[in-house]
Amino acid sequence: MPTTSQSTRIPAAASGTYSIGGDLPVVRLGYGTMQLTGEGVWGDPKDPDEAVRVLRRAVELGVTFFDTADSYGPAVAEELLAQALHPYAEDIVIATKAGLTRQGPGIWTPVGNPAYLRQQCELSLRRLRLERIDLFQLHRIDSDVPLEDQVGELRALQDEGKVRHIGLSEVDVDQLQQARKVAPIVSVQNLFNLAQRDAEPLLEHCEQNDIAFIPWFPLATGELSKHDGPLAEAATHHDATPSQLALAWLLKRSPVMLPIPGTSKVDHLESNIAAAGLELTDEEFQALSQAV
Ligand SMILES: NC(=O)c1ccc[n+]([C@@H]2O[C@H](COP(=O)([O-])OP(=O)(O)OC[C@H]3O[C@@H](n4cnc5c(N)ncnc54)[C@H](OP(=O)(O)O)[C@@H]3O)[C@@H](O)[C@H]2O)c1
Repeated sequence: MPTTSQSTRIPAAASGTYSIGGDLPVVRLGYGTMQLTGEGVWGDPKDPDEAVRVLRRAVELGVTFFDTADSYGPAVAEELLAQALHPYAEDIVIATKAGLTRQGPGIWTPVGNPAYLRQQCELSLRRLRLERIDLFQLHRIDSDVPLEDQVGELRALQDEGKVRHIGLSEVDVDQLQQARKVAPIVSVQNLFNLAQRDAEPLLEHCEQNDIAFIPWFPLATGELSKHDGPLAEAATHHDATPSQLALAWLLKRSPVMLPIPGTSKVDHLESNIAAAGLELTDEEFQALSQAV
């Protein structure tokens, strides 16, 4: 019988909670699994034992929200999640995605054919050893397939009980509004971090409509983590690491923000999760917003 691991959860909880779709509470500072694969998000990770340790340590540190995708590996990250965490504690929420196919390291091709999306949902259910996926995200809109057909298939999977909530990834406000005519959309996942803020209008739309905003590349793939990077000087004033500042800035930016920093290393994970307890004042937030 899965149990809650609340007793061991402290650090991540300081980031507060957000209820996805109004009924799926998660601790806001989560974890993204894309780094748990080989070079170019292809194949097995260099150190599979460390990958399992990272996932288990994340749970110990209070992370409840895990982002993954069928295409990470492909299949590798989902299988690692099940290997490390199944049977899942009651409060663990796994968000997966479908809609990007892989032809080799670093190559991603959108395929939004409804039959394909359904197949990938079935395969994710099998790999994750779940009866229902809590959050199923359309990884990319396929411009060769009508949006209504892609989101419509996710809606059908939801109606059949295979999917609890539906999310989108890399969309603009118009696409989000079109999709919401077909199905309830509870989250979007777009590139966003202190140094890359093109998705501001989408974030504001999400805030107005209580839709979760999941920023991918929250550390700008490590650029914001560097000790000689754009946050280095500010980090010394805050007695924090550059990564912690980048994550604290995201958490302060909006209550609908659910950062999912990725790492393949337990020590980086521990350091990143400690950002949950780093609260920036309004002045500090403004200064960082202008500094990068
Ligand atoms: N929807 C989409 O299209 C999409 C696209 C990309 C990513 N994502 C999701 O977003 C998640 C986050 O993105 P990401 O993992 O690519 O990028 P990220 O979180 O911005 O950065 C990860 C990189 O930063 C390094 N790093 C992490 N913590 C560090 C620390 N404390 N000190 C120094 N370096 C550190 C990692 O290296 P180490 O392994 O050495 O720590 C890794 O190279 C992914 O895991 C995935 O779930 C979604």
